[in-house]
Amino acid sequence: MITFHQNKQIVHITNQTISYVMEVVDGTYLAHRYFGKAIRAYRGAGAPIYFKRSYNTEHDLSIPHVSFDDFPFEYPVRGNGDFRIPALAVTQESGITHICPAFKRWSCQQGKPEITGLPAVFAEKKEEAETLEIVCEDAIAGVRIYLYYTIFDEMGIILRHQKIENIGTQTVKLQNVQSASLELPAQQYDFLSLYGSHTKEANCERFSVHHGVQRIESVRGSSSPQHHPFVALLSPKTDETSGDVYAMHLVYSGNFLAQAEVDQFGSVRVQVGLHPDTFGWQLKPGETFETPEAVLNYSAEGLNGMSHNFHWLYHNHLLPRQFARKPRPVLLNSWEAMYYDVSLDKIEHQAELAKQIGIELFVLDDGWFRSGNTSHTSMGDWECNENKIPGGIEKAAEIIHDKGMQFGLWFEPEAITADTKLYQQHPDWVLHIPGYEPVKGRHEYLLDLSQQEVRDYLVLMLDRYIQKGSIDYIKWDMNRPLTDVNSMALECSRKDEISHRYVLGLYDVLSRITGKHPHVLIEGCSSGGARFDPGMLYYVAQNWTSDNTDAYERTQIQSGYSMLYPPISMGAHVSITPNHQTGRVISLDTRYQIARLFNLGYELDLDLCTPKERETIAAQIAEHKSMRKWLQDGRFYRHTVPNDNYVMWSIVSRNKEECLVVILQKLHNLLRSHGQFRLLGLNPQCDYRDAERGEVYGGDELMRLGLAIPLIKEDFHAFTFHFMKAEDT
Ligand code: DGJ
Repeated sequence: MITFHQNKQIVHITNQTISYVMEVVDGTYLAHRYFGKAIRAYRGAGAPIYFKRSYNTEHDLSIPHVSFDDFPFEYPVRGNGDFRIPALAVTQESGITHICPAFKRWSCQQGKPEITGLPAVFAEKKEEAETLEIVCEDAIAGVRIYLYYTIFDEMGIILRHQKIENIGTQTVKLQNVQSASLELPAQQYDFLSLYGSHTKEANCERFSVHHGVQRIESVRGSSSPQHHPFVALLSPKTDETSGDVYAMHLVYSGNFLAQAEVDQFGSVRVQVGLHPDTFGWQLKPGETFETPEAVLNYSAEGLNGMSHNFHWLYHNHLLPRQFARKPRPVLLNSWEAMYYDVSLDKIEHQAELAKQIGIELFVLDDGWFRSGNTSHTSMGDWECNENKIPGGIEKAAEIIHDKGMQFGLWFEPEAITADTKLYQQHPDWVLHIPGYEPVKGRHEYLLDLSQQEVRDYLVLMLDRYIQKGSIDYIKWDMNRPLTDVNSMALECSRKDEISHRYVLGLYDVLSRITGKHPHVLIEGCSSGGARFDPGMLYYVAQNWTSDNTDAYERTQIQSGYSMLYPPISMGAHVSITPNHQTGRVISLDTRYQIARLFNLGYELDLDLCTPKERETIAAQIAEHKSMRKWLQDGRFYRHTVPNDNYVMWSIVSRNKEECLVVILQKLHNLLRSHGQFRLLGLNPQCDYRDAERGEVYGGDELMRLGLAIPLIKEDFHAFTFHFMKAEDT
């Protein structure tokens, strides 16, 4: 619900869970008032009181003593006396960078607008969302700004983005257009973000904010595993189930900046958006530019509450609709079994074993087009190496399909190696700077996706594979950061647009492929989770979470990503032991338990498994199939555990009639206490039967007293509990 108050000077956006309030001061200055838990009706509480401070900037407003130095601007600029981080910067033809937007009007509409060329959260029915449009303008600079705020009829989410229009007669250059800027009241906060690297993605980092600017960013061309386009400010005692969380997440797959500034008086400004260091956009008279979308998330119920808001939003309003609620096939991926050394014989043999254990999708990973068994060659022509696979991909697909499984194929469409025909014919299709040898990454260059011809080539190439009926699934990989960011097709005055144009180009290719072939399931991948972000999830229903398949390491990585993403979107594979990345030996059961709450797959040489192990895997897959419907749809919880020797997760079905709990004991520790592991999200009025052990407990008991963990002398041991509603409750 969006309501206007006080002669239309105040607007209140609310849905019973959260409220967002803004004010127009003196009919000109758009100010922030509140974002947080819902208030029934806003009547003006919390209006700031300004007082005279010496040596401050002075402004001729009806409120005495206002200084822009601490004014809570909703969409701040620099140059008017506000010296904190700006959300907008524009250069005029004259070189002047001053801009001072004034409020003009606001209006509401049902539903949620799309964002041209960019992925965005959607509302399937108009009635489920409402959008506020605010128009501000600077007639001298010739710039009009449209600010959008969408609220759904439930959950603690506000979606924001901006559209900038050139309403003048001269060309202007956008230098910085943040997707959201948010003012928070002066109090102590913790800054929470996710950092990492290849095989070590999504580590939570939390520290107390201090005066000045704290920021995380990517300038690697993609959202990156080094930092994730997410930031949350938390009240200091926030834990998994309690505390205030103000989070921002960017629906974008390229360079970003997320930052928080504590000003001299302790007020806090948080922003997320395109990284201004690698962004510029020329706007001619009449043209518009739209920013990526920022998801604002408020939870009064700690980090699980924040995650539930994100999971709900992405599962229902971002993931491709046709796959959001469809049971995901259990797959076998060839990578850790064959690496580049693939062959038709191996495919046929593994597929036969896969069929026997209940695998539904066979994925042929990298190697099928390579002239040798390394990553050095052949990337870009996308011709199958028939010495490895006589009869080509059609033959491999036929074998898999004949065995009743779906067939999936690996591509890295954005990359190219110098030995290919494509490179010889079109050296200018590669990102490079004339006169300089482009930097290689994994022996590859990158195609310049800002060029229409390049995109058409990729669409045609992928289309051919899909048209032939060969592939049901694509693993879309991308294994290097962007360097030599220059397009031969773009005029000099637009060179700073390339990073963003690359991402727009990627989205164009993805939207053409998914638009034409909506039945093809795409798994995003970027050396694991290097481009796991909400932008990609709009096109790909699942993302490979990490190249680290060690079950112990995965508990950290999957916990980190679960902050933001529904488990169904996170690929989790059971691989061989000792693990290829860490050498760690972990039981087959634990490897399965750590993967099964997520998007379950297997990535191992089935020949290296004993017949008994294959039988166990078959039983795991059968069990998973019997539960996946409610697991994929259920509510995921991270649990606070008595000490960090344990990791505990659970999923509770939507109707609260089933619950699956997985607890990992990292090391067997004789000093352990008799810790209780309390459940979350059950129905306290309902009784639950432990499906394996037969005992019946009340939901209230399980949530207040919890479970005591049996003594098992084993490192990396996983305990599981499956509770089902007892028949007589
Ligand atoms: C990186 C991916 O993350 C792996 O799963 C695998 O597909 C390799 N690339 C193949 O080159």
